[in-house]
Amino acid sequence: MRSHFCATVTEELIGSTLTLCGWVHRRRDHGGVIFIDLRDRSGLVQVVYDPDTAEAFATAEQVRSEYVLRTTGRVRARPEGTLNPELPTGTIEVLGESLEILNPSLPPPFLPDDADVGEETRLRYRYIDLRSRKMFERIEMRSRITRAMREFLDARDFLDIETPMLTKATPEGARDYLVPSRTQPGNFFALPQSPQLFKQLLMMAGFERYYQIVRCFRDEDLRADRQPEFTQLDIETSFLDLDGITDLMESLIRHVFKGVLGVELPDPFPRMRWEEAMRRFGSDRPDLRNPLELVDIGDLVQETGFKVFAAPAADPQGRVAALRLPGGGRLTRSAIDEYTRFVANYGAKGLAWIKVNEKAKGIEGLQSPIVKFLSETAVQGILERTNADDGDLIFFGADRAKVVNDSLGALRTVLARDSNLIEEGWRILWVVGFPMFEYDPIEGRHSASHHPFTAPDSDDVATIEAADPTLESLSYDMVLNGSEIGGGSVRIHRREIQQAVFRVLRIDPEEAQERFGFLLDALGFGCPPHGGIAFGLDRLAMLMTGSASIRDVIAFPKTQTAGDPLTGAPAPANARQLRELGIRILRSEKDAKGDGGD
Ligand code: AMO
Ligand code: AMP
Repeated sequence: MRSHFCATVTEELIGSTLTLCGWVHRRRDHGGVIFIDLRDRSGLVQVVYDPDTAEAFATAEQVRSEYVLRTTGRVRARPEGTLNPELPTGTIEVLGESLEILNPSLPPPFLPDDADVGEETRLRYRYIDLRSRKMFERIEMRSRITRAMREFLDARDFLDIETPMLTKATPEGARDYLVPSRTQPGNFFALPQSPQLFKQLLMMAGFERYYQIVRCFRDEDLRADRQPEFTQLDIETSFLDLDGITDLMESLIRHVFKGVLGVELPDPFPRMRWEEAMRRFGSDRPDLRNPLELVDIGDLVQETGFKVFAAPAADPQGRVAALRLPGGGRLTRSAIDEYTRFVANYGAKGLAWIKVNEKAKGIEGLQSPIVKFLSETAVQGILERTNADDGDLIFFGADRAKVVNDSLGALRTVLARDSNLIEEGWRILWVVGFPMFEYDPIEGRHSASHHPFTAPDSDDVATIEAADPTLESLSYDMVLNGSEIGGGSVRIHRREIQQAVFRVLRIDPEEAQERFGFLLDALGFGCPPHGGIAFGLDRLAMLMTGSASIRDVIAFPKTQTAGDPLTGAPAPANARQLRELGIRILRSEKDAKGDGGD
């Protein structure tokens, strides 16, 4: 139907006649001449219709935004003074000779590049939203990312293998999406939170190198970097140790960045132990573009009479840390109050601070609600350890270590953002040496800090069962600019180790058999050492395209309430479907009671 794409019409084609197809991006009627910016997936070109070609001109008078056209015309240079340096086709235009309306359009609810359209509307008419240049480029880059991944993995003998979508629950820590079975009433499939167990079974089956670009389903609270269905690049290998796996996986990511963005990432990626990440950044996914760091000061304030600091400093589960903001002395009281409210969201009971006006004057030169409670030596120690200078402000957190890490870790991010301290570029690293178990004092039980199939850094059943907090797992996260883009581990490949881990997690043998019996069985029939990783493709694409939300790199994403305004999903099922599935919907408390709770 066409000879060229719109944006490929350049000066070399001046004088030639060509045929283009596309949408009316914009139409301007300059009394006597009609200009149409014609758009296809390559971009825009200007087509001009003048009354000398009467038939084409008459048609051009009828067209409106988003009409689909086919036009033939001759390329000519634009007259002096009408050049558009913004467009690759800005030095030429096409003089339209014939014009055909392939399809009119209703007046669109918005135009593809409109800046201020609500997200709900954009999603409802996603097919129009996706016509914008920005969206096209994001979706196109996502496709180049997956192509580069496949190139790398195919060249290294990985096999692309599919795993079931209608399956049993996988414990990745979120709620499951359930699908009722018609043939077995009362029973449900779970949509996979990840293919974790199947990829391990594929290693037990001897495939040795597996990958899949696969949808995962997690019914969890949504954020800018979370969707209820999202895509992983899921990978598993056999006979590689932790270093072997991480080496291969960072080569993959280097290949993707080089191929797609032309960016050289470091070789090797830096590694940071979990403990160091928490200590310096209060987070297991530190953004290394942010120069601010937490500093421990517990030892300096343990002896003071200031209970707020002294108590957590003396508590082995506690932490007292300082966070210096260079030049922060300019912050007003109300800005500090604002940050105090911010950290309260993370459980902090307050946000102590010291403004360093004139260090040379000692305590006199400081402004702070807390120095009066601290000794001269403690204050001097704090100033030295934080490298404070005149004009700086130091914030403090004192509480259980988790509260201090969460609150100062989050504060570190917003302070750097508000003060424009985030450096340009890409900062990638591995975080390793995670604790094997996390203990929840309220529930009084342990959970797996990665997932229950992750190998501990010990082969000894008694050591594992002791569940000491210093026991580490053989897991690793890949962190890019403060975002966890991938995570994985060496897996347990011996049955007795898996059973010991289940015991620590208080999954009793019966429950283990019921939930993961198939995996435990398979571990008994010749399981190779194996391990792998899963990358969050949406997150990676979000970062690589410079988008603010993963919804911007998903063609048809869900809203905050996990709905789809385009199709209207989720929607009620009709009575017959429900009957076939043996499901009765309870619409009120009364229904529930009357139903006897079944
Ligand atoms: P994990 O649960 O860490 O590991 O997930 C791997 C990566 O998937 C991305 N991710 C998400 N992206 C968007 N929306 C979500 N709701 C979401 N949840 C996770 C993150 C994360 O790093 N089976 C293991 C992997 C393994 O051990 O091999 C797993 O799923 O980028
Ligand atoms: P107070 O003794 O409650 O008046 O607190 C004195 C200062 O310490 C105030 O600036 C509080 O914001 C701060 N503060 C109180 N509790 C904490 C805490 N747990 N961590 C850090 N600062 C705190």
